[in-house]
Amino acid sequence: MKVGIVGTGMVGSAAAYALGLRGVASEVVLVDLDSALAEAHALDIAHAMPFASGTSIAHGDYDRLQDAGVVIIAAGVAQRPGETRTDLLGRNAGVFRTVVAEIMRVCPNAILLVASNPVDIMTQIAWVYSGLPAHRVIGSGTILDTARFRSLLGAHLRVSPRSIHAYVLGEHGDSQVLAWSGARVGTVPIALFGEQVSAPITEEVRAKIDSETRNAAYTIIKGKGSTYYGIGAGLARIVGAIRQDERAVFSVSSVTAFVEGVRDVALSVPRVVGRQGIATELLPELDAQERRALQQSASLLRGLFEAATL
Ligand code: LAC
Repeated sequence: MKVGIVGTGMVGSAAAYALGLRGVASEVVLVDLDSALAEAHALDIAHAMPFASGTSIAHGDYDRLQDAGVVIIAAGVAQRPGETRTDLLGRNAGVFRTVVAEIMRVCPNAILLVASNPVDIMTQIAWVYSGLPAHRVIGSGTILDTARFRSLLGAHLRVSPRSIHAYVLGEHGDSQVLAWSGARVGTVPIALFGEQVSAPITEEVRAKIDSETRNAAYTIIKGKGSTYYGIGAGLARIVGAIRQDERAVFSVSSVTAFVEGVRDVALSVPRVVGRQGIATELLPELDAQERRALQQSASLLRGLFEAATL
């Protein structure tokens, strides 16, 4: 399956590298307004492929995206230190009008995978501009936040993050909701497991994990200017599920008709992802506080989308 990447800054190029390492695409095509940048990244990543999957790495203009099964949109500006993701909305909304139109001109059958922030609103904007059904416009959403949440839980409990079922829901941003009530190690509720292994989830532990999950990007951006390896790997993981028709569950973003009383909003809930994009969305059991927080996150996102001048 050919995968296109529009926007070859740090996120787009990290996604291309991760796709090559995982071997989940037959060809990866890099497209950027700065064609010299796209070419340089394509060459550099292509030189890694003899050590990896042998994936073909190419660059070009939009016409090179023909027959792509998935197009990752990582175009736009990234957060500067101190900026929130929603601060990027005005600058990136304008970029999307052209980007989505060109993608639809060349490969109207592709699934769109949006990474540009604020990713939930950019996903809804891509859905509007593309005219595609919602299940074929996926945002990376809180897939990275969920990974961060699981990694921090795993470190505390001394268990592989891959054996922890826990999700971050709602906005990929400051209003995200860590769904503690549904978190499990195997089939054991996280609090009970913590007691069993003498690593209790105290209020202090819970507050620390919440803060480090929610603020991870700010910490990384302060240290090195932007984040890219985590999101790049997350994007490649989603592409792998699409290519294999894996029907794997990820907390990804997509426009949904109704969440906690809020209509037509893009945010992350657990969703089954396969060859056709999103097959099903799950409505997890949440406690009262989590439901209120999800409702607040959905309302915030809906308000920001309505304020975006399309
Ligand atoms: C982060 C960016 C991808 O959370 O928003 O690292």
